[in-house]
Amino acid sequence: LHTPLADARGRRKRKLRLSLTDRCNLRCVYCMPEHPQWLPRDTLLDGAELQRLARLFVARLGISEIRLTGGEPLLRAEITQITTALDALRAEGLERLALTSNGVRLDRLAAPLRAAGLDDLNVSLDAVTPQGFARLTGGDLAPVLRGIDAARAAGLPVKINSVILRGHNEDEVLPLVRWALAEHLPLRFIEFMPLDGRGYWNAERVVREDEILAQLAPHYTIEAEAPSDDPAHYFRIDGRYALGMISTVSKPFCRRCDRVRVSATGRLYSCLFSADGPDLRTMLREGADDDAIEARMRAHVWHKEAGYAERPGYVERPITMHVMGG
Ligand code: GTP
Ligand code: 5AD
Ligand code: SF4
Repeated sequence: LHTPLADARGRRKRKLRLSLTDRCNLRCVYCMPEHPQWLPRDTLLDGAELQRLARLFVARLGISEIRLTGGEPLLRAEITQITTALDALRAEGLERLALTSNGVRLDRLAAPLRAAGLDDLNVSLDAVTPQGFARLTGGDLAPVLRGIDAARAAGLPVKINSVILRGHNEDEVLPLVRWALAEHLPLRFIEFMPLDGRGYWNAERVVREDEILAQLAPHYTIEAEAPSDDPAHYFRIDGRYALGMISTVSKPFCRRCDRVRVSATGRLYSCLFSADGPDLRTMLREGADDDAIEARMRAHVWHKEAGYAERPGYVERPITMHVMGG
């Protein structure tokens, strides 16, 4: 039917991360600038543009999973309409429609999103004490916990993402694991990546996977599991629970990268660490046809760089996580 999207290093692309907005209602230390300058609204892809690009990725490029990201994707007023529009792509080959959220608005939106076709949800939670949560995100913990409950009640599977920063929330590692075990929720620790909006990253502040495991070792038996194909690898805790680690900094997994990203403004990025990518929004608005857009997408992805693994460290980028979409 179609040639699957791939790069010259033989990495096939299966997942699209689609950022819906740069806006966020939290200010996580590891992500947002202190004083964000929001992008003008007319520079964000609108619902029809999002659907058109997503359709091209699914119907022509063989993308089978779409994850909606941000900023905070639930800040888009038309989030359920966008979800419904993307859900319609199942007939063309979409197998999974997911979203990553901070959970703040989930309480009210979980059931409508489920009804609109969302398959599952990742929620960022870097602390389970209200003080720890406020220190890291500037926000309240309670609505997030209510949101997670609402998602489960609506039948939406939830995974938890936690970023641990030295000097901020190392003391939350054990409480997070205890909480996740008690709640039967999958948990993944993410190493702090050099993509934050305030240039706060440095190698010292990264709490690496081996340090997290060392903290847990006195409390649990821990066994490594066979490699997985999501960005995390897993450890079996007390023989009954799979704890994930997304260790971009200490163990880059670029060789098996199967993702592409579209920023909130419609730029295509082949890597989280890319400095630039083609402006698909302008192509759409200038009336480019599907063939032209497809050709541009394929050409860009084909030349994808090796990834972070080959040039580690902090690099100034014109775009950071909250615009590119994590
Ligand atoms: P699943 O499909 O549930 O595995 O989702 P995910 O882990 O891809 O998505 P999520 O939005 O929860 O991302 C979790 C963390 O993994 C974030 O910090 C992402 O930036 C990071 N991540 C996701 N994809 C990549 C990738 O291709 N490269 C790197 N280095 N990090 C990634
Ligand atoms: N390093 C690692 N993870 C980050 N996230 C946001 N900024 C960073 C960063 N600098 C995480 C969020 C969210 C996911 C999409 O990315 O916690 O769970
Ligand atoms: Fe907002 Fe997510 Fe960034 Fe935190 S990580 S500031 S919740 S976009």
